[in-house]
Amino acid sequence: MQKTFVMLKPDAVQRNLIGEIICRFEKKGLKAVAIKMLEISRDMAEKHYGEHRGKPFFAELVNFITSGPVVAMIWEGKGAIQVARQMMGSTDPQEALPGTIRGDYGLFTGNNIVHGSDSPESAAREISLFFSAEEIVSYQKSNEPWIYGEGAN
Ligand code: RTP
Ligand code: MG
Repeated sequence: MQKTFVMLKPDAVQRNLIGEIICRFEKKGLKAVAIKMLEISRDMAEKHYGEHRGKPFFAELVNFITSGPVVAMIWEGKGAIQVARQMMGSTDPQEALPGTIRGDYGLFTGNNIVHGSDSPESAAREISLFFSAEEIVSYQKSNEPWIYGEGAN
């Protein structure tokens, strides 16, 4: 089953949104297989957002993502990468539709609440940047046939 990396950014933690956002992913039917809170070093932030190095917002982005604790997570499920991106909404919360996380909780691109991997390659890279293999669990849930139909088992 596909895995995606999701991170609740420092603004989500400071604004007491951890529980509400985790609740959305759980209710969607995705399965948490790793969760931890951490403070990101500048070196790790620059690696994580390496594709944006050289862009005008890069320094601000690194400053923001290292400005307080974050919650790093791996969510598993059919189409998890695309599903999580759709649940997050557009990068600019002013454009993100109501019903999406950014659309419901944000107003400013710099502080847009949540990160999610944008491709299978990014997911693999980001998962290995933030988690060791021992930190990722593998388990079945009895409700999986209720989420995916009888083909789940
Ligand atoms: P993320 O990587 O954080 O999940 O966000 P994203 O894919 O929706 O957007 P991306 O293009 O990867 O940009 C990464 C983060 O950089 C900040 N940003 N600022 N001022 C700007 O024009 C601008 N563009 C991007 C945002 O915080 C965005 O989440
Ligand atoms: Mg991105």
